[in-house]
Amino acid sequence: MTLRLDALGQRYGDHLVLHGIDLTVPDGQLLCVVGPSGCGKSTLLRTVAGLQPASEGTVTVDGTPVTGVPDQLAVVFQDYGRSLFPWLTVRDNVALPLRRRGLARAERRAEAERILERVGLDGAGCRHPWQLSGGMQQRVAIARALVCRPSLLLMDEPFGSLDAQTREDLEDLLLEVHRTDGATIVFVTHDIDESVYVGDRVVVLSPGPGSRVVLDLPVQLPGKRDQIGTRGLPEFVELRAEVGRAVRGAQGYPTG
Ligand SMILES: Nc1ncnc2c1ncn2[C@@H]1O[C@H](COP(=O)(O)OP(=O)(O)O)[C@@H](O)[C@H]1O
Ligand SMILES: [Mg+2]
Repeated sequence: MTLRLDALGQRYGDHLVLHGIDLTVPDGQLLCVVGPSGCGKSTLLRTVAGLQPASEGTVTVDGTPVTGVPDQLAVVFQDYGRSLFPWLTVRDNVALPLRRRGLARAERRAEAERILERVGLDGAGCRHPWQLSGGMQQRVAIARALVCRPSLLLMDEPFGSLDAQTREDLEDLLLEVHRTDGATIVFVTHDIDESVYVGDRVVVLSPGPGSRVVLDLPVQLPGKRDQIGTRGLPEFVELRAEVGRAVRGAQGYPTG
């Protein structure tokens, strides 16, 4: 799905959060959005998700203006602890969105098991979310987002509260899912390294009020990405520095 933001602005009462955002995300691109806390990243995702009408400008998906939650959209939030239902098993959490599709219970369960296997959770279907580690819970949330095969996936700092090793594993899972499914993905993070590692492109937002895009950078890295090799490449180091300068510059820190 092609996502397009035209002169997008968003305000809460008198408080202007986003202003003049123009962005086209081509079908199948993994776009990372980086910016300081409070600049409006979550607001941007909620607007794209049709949960909040735009105060200025428009959002379109494949040319159609977004007025409610688009079909084929899925969202993953940072707070996996609150996004899963503790009284449902892992399998039933994942199968939940399939109810709307009118599948029989056995089909829903089989499909949920298939996705759980993909995210490395085969065998965990009968457990409850609170019996799993944070990283496993976030895998469940990702499985639930993937179960309806979304063509637009929005992720709001999804790995922000995980330890470093788990985070790297989930970044690689995301890359694998993106390679095979080819959905358009908007991935919000405040981690500069992470944005360059997972992104096809990185966009940096300035701090508010009235955040706008201050850097729009394609990420071209040679070969298949892997945590150790890719992060050591001179190209990676250069891209990371460029994003870092944009973030610091936008915040008014010296960039030299
Ligand atoms: N529902 C809301 N009502 C009023 N102000 C809000 C609301 N949600 C967010 N804000 C304000 O909008 C700004 C951007 O918030 P947010 O989109 O959560 O930023 P980020 O995700 O980049 O940290 C902040 O100043 C925040 O306090
Ligand atoms: Mg946020």
